[in-house]
Amino acid sequence: MSENQTEKLVEKDPGPAKDIQDMADLVSLSKRRGFVFPSSEVYGGINACWDYGPLGAELKRNVKDVWWNAMTRRDDIEGIDAAILMHPRVWEASGHVSGFVDPLVDCKTCKGRFRADKLDMAHCGNKPSKKPGEGSDCQLTEPRQFNLMFKTHMGPLEDSASIVYLRPETAQGIYVNFLNVQQSMRQKLPFGIAQIGKAFRNEITPGNFIFRTREFEQMEMQYFVKPGSDMDWFEKWKEQRIQWHLDLGIRKEKLRFHAHGPGELAHYAKAAFDIEYLFPFGWQELEGIHNRSDFDLGRHQEFSGKKLEYFDEEAKERYLPYIVETSVGCDRFLLVALTDAYRSDNERVWLKLHPKLAPFKAAVFPLMKKPELMEYTDKVSAELRKKFRVDRDDSGSIGKRYRRQDEIGTPFGITIDYDTLSNHTVTVRHRDLMTQERIPADKLVQYLDEKIDNWGK
Ligand code: GAP
Repeated sequence: MSENQTEKLVEKDPGPAKDIQDMADLVSLSKRRGFVFPSSEVYGGINACWDYGPLGAELKRNVKDVWWNAMTRRDDIEGIDAAILMHPRVWEASGHVSGFVDPLVDCKTCKGRFRADKLDMAHCGNKPSKKPGEGSDCQLTEPRQFNLMFKTHMGPLEDSASIVYLRPETAQGIYVNFLNVQQSMRQKLPFGIAQIGKAFRNEITPGNFIFRTREFEQMEMQYFVKPGSDMDWFEKWKEQRIQWHLDLGIRKEKLRFHAHGPGELAHYAKAAFDIEYLFPFGWQELEGIHNRSDFDLGRHQEFSGKKLEYFDEEAKERYLPYIVETSVGCDRFLLVALTDAYRSDNERVWLKLHPKLAPFKAAVFPLMKKPELMEYTDKVSAELRKKFRVDRDDSGSIGKRYRRQDEIGTPFGITIDYDTLSNHTVTVRHRDLMTQERIPADKLVQYLDEKIDNWGK
């Protein structure tokens, strides 16, 4: 084998690609490759809390950037970053103190705790093949209402006057700032306010890895519109939001809309649709799109005693705008991106992530550990790193290095060999098809830019 022979000659026909079969495979890959670790693992972990490792943090940052750019690189949407702790009256006005409850039942036999409205999706603690209440020895209590907000105290006194809540949604920070943003940015209706931030819910039944956790991040946008135009905007935002998921490569056949029937509508909603994703554990909510009418601004106006009306200069009238909300969990989307991307065949496991999401856009390898190849590799990596996050890997066979990068979703593998030294071209190997091509080294930045921008087109 000549020194210049690359792995193109030895990558075997891998056979047909399979989708993810079992979420446990993703949990294991996430831990092994530094995406997601159980929180406080050395102490045995803490239920439903997870830490993002180096690659998970990078992926999450990419998710947030893509969402933030889609939302705010336009004239009619402003971004904010409101405090997690808010005045406690906010949560009375929003309806969360009285209405943000789930019905909880306990089983006196297995000591399990379940949501009374989700028993059909739960498993008995003693006989997991049965639903709670189905076994002859199950003893379920009557349902009691359990408020999902986490409480803490502000200041040194722990009395009822010092209670504050960890916000269960980021939306309220937007509503109370509606006039601040509108006036400081001289916005006219229709316009939106976007925010990314942590939210907390004391979920009764968290689980399915990072699907439902007690601490999570939301990416929410509230679009303020003239009453009467709200259903049109609702339809427009439904379409824009599903397109966002499709543009990031999420497969169309795994996405669907689910309309909320009258019994399902949240207390604030006039109309609501979920975008659902088909996980290995079934269709589940990924994002909510809600027509919240003037409920929130009306309630804050009532509870604060401050006018929150908008003055419409054209119509010369004052009114409370209606709000169309789009709300997606950052962690929930990240789980969808990983689940949808997971592929395996006879040769390898790989993540078919959109390059905009992939933690590394490329990995650079010297074909062998020779000083002249290593030096060139360093030069290429340094040049690429001015623009992209790239990995540099020189350990093990080139085949092993390809596999390692496939497993973390790196879309391009760039190999420096002896031809590079003489003609300044490199081999670019493509993650999904395992094809290779030679590119001039000084055109790599432009090449990657174009490939990333035109991915899937
Ligand atoms: N402001 C509206 C709102 O919060 P939601 O349907 O309760 O509506 C919106 O939540 C999104 O937040 C969900 O579609 C989901 O993506 C995410 N989400 C909600 N609860 C979550 C949890 N416990 N863990 C992870 N993500 C969650």
